Amino acid sequence: MASEKLMPAPHILIGCTGSVASIKIPMLIESLQQLNPKPEIKVVSTQHALHFFRKEEQNVIIYTDSDEWETWSSIQDPVLHIELRKWADVMIIAPLDANTLAKIANGLCDNLLTCVVRAWDFHKPLMFAPAMNTCMYEHPITATQIDLLKKLGYKEIPCISKKLACGDTGFGAMAEVPTLVSAVEQSLSSFNKNAGNTSLPSTSQSSGL
Ligand SMILES: Cc1cc2nc3c(=O)[nH]c(=O)nc-3n(C[C@H](O)[C@H](O)[C@H](O)COP(=O)(O)O)c2cc1C
Repeated sequence: MASEKLMPAPHILIGCTGSVASIKIPMLIESLQQLNPKPEIKVVSTQHALHFFRKEEQNVIIYTDSDEWETWSSIQDPVLHIELRKWADVMIIAPLDANTLAKIANGLCDNLLTCVVRAWDFHKPLMFAPAMNTCMYEHPITATQIDLLKKLGYKEIPCISKKLACGDTGFGAMAEVPTLVSAVEQSLSSFNKNAGNTSLPSTSQSSGL
């Protein structure tokens, strides 16, 4: 039908941190690219997350801390963490390791990923999938920090129990990729509904990124 409007491609920002579960980043990207309409995807990675997947083999842009500083040289230049925050319709941090969880819970912003989160627009969904060894997960500070993020309005995609990379079996593994994808899909549909089912926010369409 000529009157039918094409759904704009949603903009999904993936954040990843130095958990071994970052080995699933290629699978997460690939699975999200199967969504309809096909989303645009960008990734913000911490330095340590880069140990777990090959940045150069991904078919999406992977931003790291050096991009933040290399793209800015004078006062008119865009600030990458602000541009990404405007560009994204939803953000999923998967995996969220104990270190970055603690930083976000305390408002720290000492790298590109935590700056995006610190500048986040609370009208847009932000999801996080914790991933850590059971001993780290069971430390009481973990529950306190996860609760704090949930109180702020971020959505937890809870850990699961399984055999972990270190050989231990227990709770703390990142949720499986299909679970992450359905959480993103769900957040996009409620987000579109809130936006009146017509278009995504103008910020995501007008950003030069
Ligand atoms: C092989 C390896 C696997 C790791 N896996 C995890 C993990 O699953 N969860 C976690 O919280 N920390 C894990 N760590 C520790 C983090 O990488 C470390 O705390 C790091 O400082 C995190 O930095 P980032 O949050 O800036 O990425 C792992 C470290 C190594 C060497």
